[in-house]
Amino acid sequence: MSPALAFLGVSIIGTWGLASIGLIAAGIIMIFFPGDATIASGSDPTLAGIVLLVVGFVSMGLMGMTIQPLLGLDPPLPIRPKQWVPASKLTRWTKAGTLRDFPNNTPKEVRLLSRRVTLVRVDDNVYAMNALCSHARLPLAGLPGSPVKPMAIRDGCVTCPFHGAKFEVETGKLVREPFDSQWNNDHPFLGRLQSKLFFFNKSAYDQQTYPVKVEGGEIFVALPK
Ligand code: FES
Repeated sequence: MSPALAFLGVSIIGTWGLASIGLIAAGIIMIFFPGDATIASGSDPTLAGIVLLVVGFVSMGLMGMTIQPLLGLDPPLPIRPKQWVPASKLTRWTKAGTLRDFPNNTPKEVRLLSRRVTLVRVDDNVYAMNALCSHARLPLAGLPGSPVKPMAIRDGCVTCPFHGAKFEVETGKLVREPFDSQWNNDHPFLGRLQSKLFFFNKSAYDQQTYPVKVEGGEIFVALPK
């Protein structure tokens, strides 16, 4: 992307965000600190404040829906097993790299045939699962360049670094729900605070896995045709 285009994008998003925040702030002020000038105009400041608040939040929501796909983020909704690709369709063996390309005991995301897949190498064995966590579609291998890094495999499980859901690497089975008390205690921002923001979605489901074979140090993953 050219610097001029990036600058334009950041400017538009910044202006949009500031305008949304301004509308929300104006709404709060009109509701809680109406002032004489507004009352003199004859309009109901509380009603006007509520309208501004609603418009501000809608604008903020629209901004999120626009930006998320641009950043490669999905809506924070669960992925249920009924959305999986059935095992009978996983027949296209696709090369994913060699054993040396993958750190031991740490999930790493790759893109294979446009599909996001997380590979986990445990010594000479490799396991593959959907790269997006079944809780809120955030990447199990963390976000590159951000403080959210992939977590080491423990007890045969991969831990989502966002809200702490745990899945067996071999089967994808869910063994710990997001926002469990231990996670929340250890992670005040990603745990305790976000558990309140995610009031509409607190459950994870088993993760879709993909068959893997290793031949002569090369890794192949079976994907849909
Ligand atoms: S996105 Fe993985 S636990 Fe929430």
